[in-house]
Amino acid sequence: MTARWCGLLAVVAVILLIGGSEAAREALLDDYGEFLPHIRLAKDLMDPRRYDSRVRPVMNHSKPTTVSFSMSLYQILSINEKQQNVDLNVWAIQKWNDDFLGWNPYLYGMINTTILPFDAIWLPDTYLYNSVVMNREETERYINVVVTTNYWKGEKGAEVKFMYPALYRTSCLLDIRFFPYDQQACKLTISSWTSSKSDINYVPEYESVNMDNFLPNEEWVVVSFNVKRIEEKFVCCPEPWVLLEAVLVVRRKPLYYIVNLVIPTSVITLVAVTGFFTAASTSSERREKLSLGIDSLLAMSILMMMVSEQMPTSSDFVPLFGIFYLSIIFIIFIGTLFTAFILNVHLQKMYAKPVSPVISYIFFGRVSLFLPTFFSLV
Ligand SMILES: *[C@@H]1O[C@H](CO)[C@@H](O)[C@H](O)[C@H]1NC(C)=O
Ligand SMILES: *[C@@H]1O[C@H](CO)[C@@H](O)[C@H](O)[C@H]1NC(C)=O
Repeated sequence: MTARWCGLLAVVAVILLIGGSEAAREALLDDYGEFLPHIRLAKDLMDPRRYDSRVRPVMNHSKPTTVSFSMSLYQILSINEKQQNVDLNVWAIQKWNDDFLGWNPYLYGMINTTILPFDAIWLPDTYLYNSVVMNREETERYINVVVTTNYWKGEKGAEVKFMYPALYRTSCLLDIRFFPYDQQACKLTISSWTSSKSDINYVPEYESVNMDNFLPNEEWVVVSFNVKRIEEKFVCCPEPWVLLEAVLVVRRKPLYYIVNLVIPTSVITLVAVTGFFTAASTSSERREKLSLGIDSLLAMSILMMMVSEQMPTSSDFVPLFGIFYLSIIFIIFIGTLFTAFILNVHLQKMYAKPVSPVISYIFFGRVSLFLPTFFSLV
């Protein structure tokens, strides 16, 4: 009995299912029993007999595909002096002609533009040559492509517009010689990895990168971001490659470093130097001058540690900031050294010893001759 009921239920379910898919199918059809135009268009364009996404879509295979490239800078995420790389958030647009996609809008309800998934069609293998990240999923986010038929231009095929956001981390040699008043130039080299000039020809759509949506960076000001096209031969192949070089020039805003490093060090140096000039009295020797010098040196080395944490370890040159610190340390060092010397001479009185002949010759015989001239000048 139950088995018969089950059988009946199954038959009803099958009938319902067929009816359901029939109804769904009907919804896709127009009044004449044909597929709706946009569905027909996608089906026809992606018909495997017609389109093969593995093949570069040109009628004449000797002709290169021209890919026009443009970019918008959205944000400078970070510039790492220590690792010598730069993180950028950009929006890229590539445009090219696909000779195999294209349709007559009169046959497809006057549709001029359609959107297709990126993996359904041929894409140029555009790659950022100096990227630090190898995996594409971690840098570029491919979504869809916009396809516009060339019918109205009187040509075959369609124009493909491929827009995607990208987080690029590129290596960039940062020259911190003039830190914190430095200006850096970082180059992004963009081209196809496998196709030479005879296959893909890149052209920059605009001379400079679009900055309309740029979120200002707290530390850096963008001076310029220009794209230029160059041709370069590589060791691998006789054919030249077309490269796009986008050069980002940024200047550091020095306020942070002036407030946090330059002013404190200058104040400490000033205090230390004036401290050395406090007069000694016969009652006490001002031995604190010695500890003042040692303490200032200690403060300097702590501040210097803060700077060196940011700096790349380079032995090729001494950055300006390093020279600044070194000279300040040198001044305090000289001050402390002379204090020790003067204290040494001064403290001889404890042992009731006379001034040593060498010192008495230097100061009473030589330096004293210059002192009147010096003071008359001042
Ligand atoms: C393809 O293009 C090349 C170079 O422009 C030309 O020499 C050749 O005749 C073209 N072939 C056809 C079949 O049009
Ligand atoms: C497609 O372009 C043609 C010519 O510019 C225009 O007449 C037509 O209205 C466009 N179709 C749509 C859906 O916008």
